[in-house]
Amino acid sequence: MLKLRMFFIFFVLLNLSACLSSGGGDTASNTLTTSAATDSSGVAVSDTEKKSLQLSLGRQLFFDKNLSSPAGQACASCHDPKTGFADPNQSNPTSQGVHKERFGNRNTPTMAYASFTPTFTFDEKEQTYVGGLFLDGRAATLVDQAKGPFLNIVEMANPNKETVVTKVSQAEYAPLFKKIYGEQAFLDNEKAYDQIAEAITIFEQSSEVNAFSSKYDYFLAGKVALTDQELLGMQLFIAPNKGNCAACHPAEKAADGSPPLFTDYTYDNLGVPKNTKSQFLRQPKEFNERGEDFIDLGLGGSAQVNNHEYNGQFKVPTLRNVALTAPYMHNGVFSSLREVVDFYNTRDVDSKWAAPEVPENVNRIELGNLGLTAQEVDALVAFMNTLSDGYVVQQ
Ligand code: HEC
Ligand code: HEC
Repeated sequence: MLKLRMFFIFFVLLNLSACLSSGGGDTASNTLTTSAATDSSGVAVSDTEKKSLQLSLGRQLFFDKNLSSPAGQACASCHDPKTGFADPNQSNPTSQGVHKERFGNRNTPTMAYASFTPTFTFDEKEQTYVGGLFLDGRAATLVDQAKGPFLNIVEMANPNKETVVTKVSQAEYAPLFKKIYGEQAFLDNEKAYDQIAEAITIFEQSSEVNAFSSKYDYFLAGKVALTDQELLGMQLFIAPNKGNCAACHPAEKAADGSPPLFTDYTYDNLGVPKNTKSQFLRQPKEFNERGEDFIDLGLGGSAQVNNHEYNGQFKVPTLRNVALTAPYMHNGVFSSLREVVDFYNTRDVDSKWAAPEVPENVNRIELGNLGLTAQEVDALVAFMNTLSDGYVVQQ
């Protein structure tokens, strides 16, 4: 987005500090077992204790491969911590369902840092949509999002909520669920399903998922130096007349010191080409009515917007852990970070790039002909390689 972005940055940071101060959870509660939401005498526990129990429950739900039909696929199957909470199977451009012959239409994004996403809204002042979960923002909040995958036929493929609730009621962590939500918790399917989603979001907000432990985080905290190449990459990333990346992927600490999330949560059409290798295009009619002609309209085609002025726009993704989450873009059309930067740099001046998947609304102002040298492209890639969590500072 070209318009003033400060408002969004401010908005995001408010959200960030809210999340941090409400103690989204922390790894210390890893060790918590089933100590008490009501103790043996039925005494209620504090909110903090409840949150710790919910974190433990949410983690177990997230990793439970039994919660698909047939069993075999967990949230973590597509959002693996080893690959930045994105899809570990990097050979498929889009995600493969529990039914192995089924493919979704989109590349699995990281779910790390997704909990900082503001609620989907139209900003009147900036005349733009902002926030929401999924690449087209169609789930307004994190809880809404978590209710989707269990019932999606090209993902975990359960026939209904009751199936999911029954599976949870038979899981080894069912007593923990009852401890938090009450002895009768499994009797009301609607309510129990909402509680499953809620517990998952507590895990999604935890420091296990949002570690802020990349080399760049330690650099911002003054604990480690970047190499000359990484520093050059950072400068190019921020400079409006060079990479200009930070115009959409903010990279600097906020005034209150909170770390950058590398997205302003707005939407854009970058003119990304169609991915003719996507298995989704060859899915049977019941999963893809339009077959090879399928075009992903993104925000413009989503039910809540349904307006061609936004066709081809996708949410700006975070770039945290991006080195671990290939392939790239909503349709997985690019396989390396170098290819992504090459595209930003030469989209409009090199005939090797195929036409945009959606030619309407392409952003021709902020990208497409950046004039970067090969060394500068490499430096931008080197900078993005500093954004992976789990960096160990050498003493
Ligand atoms: C089959 C692979 C698959 C499974 C299983 C799966 N996801 Fe996803 N996830 C995706 C894809 C693909 C998207 C993007 C879909 C879209 O934009 O339409 C996504 C999007 C998300 C997002 C939104 C990220 C953002 O920045 O907007 C979150 C959060 C998320 N998933 C969490 C979960 C949770 C929680 C579960 C388990 C209940 C789960 N996923 C199961 C593939 C999967
Ligand atoms: C005008 C806003 C904008 C600018 C400027 C911008 N990006 Fe992006 N970026 C986006 C959007 C939107 C997407 C998602 C597009 C899609 O999926 O079709 C994206 C996707 C990406 C991805 C893929 C992430 C993933 O998980 O698939 C990378 C990497 C990336 N950008 C890096 C950069 C770099 C490096 C620059 C500067 C050279 C830059 N961006 C400039 C908006 C922008």
